Amino acid sequence: MCGIIGYLGPQDASEVILDGLKRLEYRGYDSAGLAVIKDGGFEVRRAEGKLQKLEAILRDNPVRAHLGIGHTRWATHGRPNETNAHPHVSGRVAVVHNGIIENFSALKAELAADGRDFSSETDSEIIAHLIDRELSRNDDDLLAAMGRALALLEGSFALALLDHRHPDTLLAARKESPLILGLGEGEFFVASDVPAILTHTNRVVYLDDDELVEVGPDGYRVTDLAARPVPKEVQTISWSPVMAEKAGYKHFMLKEIFEQPRAVIDTIRGRLRAETGDVFPDDLGLGKMASGEIERLVIVACGTSWHAALVGKFLIEELARLPVEVDLGSEFRYRNPILDERTLLIGISQSGETADTLAAVREGRAKGARRLSICNVVGSTITRETEGVLYTHAGPEIGVASTKAFTTQLAALSMLAVHLAGVRGTMSQAERRAFLEEMIRLPRLMEDCLDGSDRIRSIARQLMNRRDFLYLGRGLLYPLALEGALKLKEISYIHAEGYPAGEMKHGPIALIDEDVPVVVAASGSSPTFDKAVSNMAEVAARQGELVVVSDVGPDRFFSDIPISHLIIVPETVFHLTPILFAIPLQLLAYHVADLRGTDVDQPRNLAKSVTVE
Ligand code: AGP
Repeated sequence: MCGIIGYLGPQDASEVILDGLKRLEYRGYDSAGLAVIKDGGFEVRRAEGKLQKLEAILRDNPVRAHLGIGHTRWATHGRPNETNAHPHVSGRVAVVHNGIIENFSALKAELAADGRDFSSETDSEIIAHLIDRELSRNDDDLLAAMGRALALLEGSFALALLDHRHPDTLLAARKESPLILGLGEGEFFVASDVPAILTHTNRVVYLDDDELVEVGPDGYRVTDLAARPVPKEVQTISWSPVMAEKAGYKHFMLKEIFEQPRAVIDTIRGRLRAETGDVFPDDLGLGKMASGEIERLVIVACGTSWHAALVGKFLIEELARLPVEVDLGSEFRYRNPILDERTLLIGISQSGETADTLAAVREGRAKGARRLSICNVVGSTITRETEGVLYTHAGPEIGVASTKAFTTQLAALSMLAVHLAGVRGTMSQAERRAFLEEMIRLPRLMEDCLDGSDRIRSIARQLMNRRDFLYLGRGLLYPLALEGALKLKEISYIHAEGYPAGEMKHGPIALIDEDVPVVVAASGSSPTFDKAVSNMAEVAARQGELVVVSDVGPDRFFSDIPISHLIIVPETVFHLTPILFAIPLQLLAYHVADLRGTDVDQPRNLAKSVTVE
């Protein structure tokens, strides 16, 4: 999605903005630009493509100022080119925008009838015209004028803007698309996300929907669209700038795969007591919800988070004997779901800004369901739209392909399942103690899985040019087959399909021949292990190349099954196996993609946070 940054302070605004945009590159973009106020007007620099092009333009034609706005654009309306790149200027206003204006055609027609000319194909440009029009009518109060203009918009926006009649004022507003205000020493920032400003300050204010901010040399004020003051809390981000850097790894994704033991430790820390078998409800974000009142769960998510939701279903149904329904955020609200106050709707989202998942949570609110979010970003939108939040503490996940967010979501769901099982009496204290003791052991077992990275790279080297992969798993490991396939396809661009192993004979088996690697996740502690082994035999009978991830050795497999590559993970209790099995599947995808030379951290066509429908 688009990245926004604005700056007001003693430093050179162009430098601060360019640096901030580089730290937002992971959000995916196709053009970039910036604007500063100079001699009563705007100096605008824009370029299609990567930030290096904008940097070259600034070297040839520098601008120095202490106030400016910048943008990386992920096209939604209008082709990716310099003309459509932000900032967009109308009269006294320059604006950068992230989001989608759904009624922009009608507003554009109205503005054109007013005699306004347009220079781009974008929806964003109308924002500049609307605010310029309002300011020219009455600029006694900049935020009031902005509020009148923004009240006309339908859709989503995070925006930063300049009014060249106020050369020391930075303005910003948000609705649905994320935006934060950074408070430095004598300097201020607005940005789409924390990494953009973390090298300057860790004190932030998260703007909520329909909030506007005016920043001047002496401070800032936040109002609603009707210019009524809104009190805001200042939050301190615990991430250090270095955490958001690569820490010596070739890619953010590899760093984040190796951070998983630490991320799981941080996610379970202080939330359970193994010696008593207790998980602490108030640390689970259930807030005012008495878990005993919950009769049914519905978990909604997208992508990797949806795979975590599928694992969560198995855990909670088996351990707590509570019915769990899982749905995709993009489907949920269009099927008129059945929800009520006895339903707990859980939205899982690493970014907390995924439009489809947010919309599903809002559907839950509209139908009276209790709402909990499992999220990795403090203060993100989803966390402020649910009654409770169970934060994963994975730290910033910069790589577009989600890894440590996934395993920490599984850890969070495991704790929730044990808590609910305790409340409902479906697990004895002894069973809960054993489970939690194993959870505490997990990070060490994850380190053992990571030790297999070099060997997995050698396997990846042999398979990197195949055209199709099939991933198979049964029961609790079926979502891992889906996740392994998603990881491979989204970063290596090789077609890969995850399938329930038992379903393969109903169609996909036609795909199998000596050119198709079949990755099978099979745990010896699974009640369907022997059936998974039979599925491997079916693959082998059709010359499929078997890559097996398992926690048992070759002796447990039929001796006549030719397994080309066997990747062993340590044993743990069955319900925690997904957290361990995820690691070799992530590493296989990473090494194949790295060997193929794709853009691992920013794969083509993908964005880290999909903040539009
Ligand atoms: C995962 O590797 C993908 N990048 C993508 O599927 C992602 O999981 C999905 O967009 C959901 O994102 P969220 O967890 O931030 O809501």
